[in-house]
Amino acid sequence: MTDFDVVFTPSGRRGRFAEGTTVLDAARTLGVDLDSVCGGRGICGRCQVAVGANPDIPADPARLSQPGSTETDYRGKRPLGEGRRLGCAASVLADVVIDVPAESQVHRQVVRKDAGVRTLPVDPVVRLHFVEVAEPDLSSPTGDLERLLSALESEWGLTGLSADPGVLPELQAALRKSAWKVTAAVRGGTELVAVWPGFRDAVYGVAFDVGSTTVAGHLCELTSGAVLASEGAMNPQIAFGEDVMSRVSYVMMNEGGADRLTSEIRRALDIMIGDLCEAADVSRDTILEVTLVGNPIMHHLVLGIDPRELGTAPFALATTGPVSRRARDLDLDLKDAARVYLLPCIAGHVGADAAGAILAEGPHRSDAVQLLVDVGTNAEIVLGNRHRLLAASSPTGPAFEGAEISGGQRAAPGAIERVRIDRNTLEPRFKVIGSELWSDEPGFAQSISKLSITGICGSGIIEVVAEMYLAGILTTDGVIADRDHPRIEAAGRTSSYILTDDPPIRVTQTDVRAIQLAKAALQAGCRLLMTHLGVTDVDEIRLAGAFGSHIDPVHAAVLGMIPDCRLDRVTAAGNAAGLGAMMALLSGAARDEIETVAETIEKIETATEASFQDEFVAAMGFPNSTHPYPHLAATVDLPEPRQSERVRRRSRKEPA
Ligand code: FES
Repeated sequence: MTDFDVVFTPSGRRGRFAEGTTVLDAARTLGVDLDSVCGGRGICGRCQVAVGANPDIPADPARLSQPGSTETDYRGKRPLGEGRRLGCAASVLADVVIDVPAESQVHRQVVRKDAGVRTLPVDPVVRLHFVEVAEPDLSSPTGDLERLLSALESEWGLTGLSADPGVLPELQAALRKSAWKVTAAVRGGTELVAVWPGFRDAVYGVAFDVGSTTVAGHLCELTSGAVLASEGAMNPQIAFGEDVMSRVSYVMMNEGGADRLTSEIRRALDIMIGDLCEAADVSRDTILEVTLVGNPIMHHLVLGIDPRELGTAPFALATTGPVSRRARDLDLDLKDAARVYLLPCIAGHVGADAAGAILAEGPHRSDAVQLLVDVGTNAEIVLGNRHRLLAASSPTGPAFEGAEISGGQRAAPGAIERVRIDRNTLEPRFKVIGSELWSDEPGFAQSISKLSITGICGSGIIEVVAEMYLAGILTTDGVIADRDHPRIEAAGRTSSYILTDDPPIRVTQTDVRAIQLAKAALQAGCRLLMTHLGVTDVDEIRLAGAFGSHIDPVHAAVLGMIPDCRLDRVTAAGNAAGLGAMMALLSGAARDEIETVAETIEKIETATEASFQDEFVAAMGFPNSTHPYPHLAATVDLPEPRQSERVRRRSRKEPA
């Protein structure tokens, strides 16, 4: 029999094969990444290929066998595209180039446009294998499981498989229901985790981002990487404290408090799984993987670990490593073998959410020095590039979330989220969540007729304080200037800025101080990492989290939340932590990657660093009392440094 050259693209793998060898067999022999669930039975349609060409071998369909009944009768879920052949049915008749399209590869990239056009690697943790199992025989008394494992070995080369005990209760019924033909799910090529009667070609997972305020979940098909449904919900733990530290206080002061918070969040996750399944029309028993990110306190509470150690120095985590638990151990009503994987934490206040953000943003894959900031009650800060990565947390407190601010509130309809102040008249205009219009635009009053203005949320308070500084209402050191103006109201020994009359929303001196303390902590944390890394400048700043998406880079820089940087390189990272959870859901290699990176990240403890206090004091000024902001000054007319008398006597002059 004649042998022919078979060349696969894009892998470039090649070999000589006997006439009549199927393309799938040739691919398997060469280790080419060509998918198959049905094992060459012409059912799954995952092995689709096309005839290609190279300088030596022209494209000619006749180099493969004519389509037989397997292909002409094929009616699978993945229709055969124009010029496509089933690799398991087409056989080699001459030298041939075989093109393996991306969708026929097990390891592939999927593009997520909703995540800012990102390419996510898909490298499924769980794979499906359709097999025919030998029937039991009195003369050969082996168990059903043993015969299934034997079939997986002979048909799929899966040697030495173990079986999750959760498979056993469903195994015998599955085999008998479908005439000994079943689909087996194998995790990591080593463990049998589920069996379904007949042929099945989809298996699912859920990626969770557990924030202290909201929980987001995404249901994905594990082999294609498709996101089939996404849901968001409030974290029910809010009833026990607005921010993470107040929840730790709740645990400290209430017997059984940790258990209660744990059961609340687990119940919310289980409900969300149900909602996601309903939205995607997917059965719960086909979900085999769950990944989860969250700050250290959410991470611990989901796992049922008392978080009080995280409430006081030295903020010891129960573990910084990744954690894998049975879903049922976390009260999730999923198949017995379904697993929950929690990404590693980095340090006491730099959690699995930061690990998720790092995985998604990839500073460790970049030459540019990236500053990744996730603002919360504790800001999580990561700085570096492929050569070195540092992380720290900084105690910003809840001011950026609208707490501790006289008119502050959480971002919700009715909250002021944007503010501009006229530099000459000092008159404000603003936008309210729930309306697209600015307050000075025609129709604004009607647009909020069903809302009432209830307060000012985090992005609003950042903007109003930055605008007050730009308009000269605030001095460089944050004192509301004593000016004779109807918008400035004396309040005891200090003054307030009247943002709205009805309802009366004031920005008080105490509010400004709270924002100064928060932003100084954040900037000082960033600068501490810059000092450790030996840089005076960063190439780009990514603001992660929902809050980061709402912060205007210019106002963040004017306020001095972040170090100086080209403003076109200060961008929102979106839900980077959630995207990281999704990457870990879809790719075992992504899990390995973040586990390796997390081990190499240098943790800097802000509380024990002598220079933190100096940086903090300097960062109290707008945008900073000692560090210049040339990039910002090139974009924005910053006021001349003007300090209150009290501070001017003690402080250094700000460099030009
Ligand atoms: Fe399933 Fe070819 S391998 S159709």
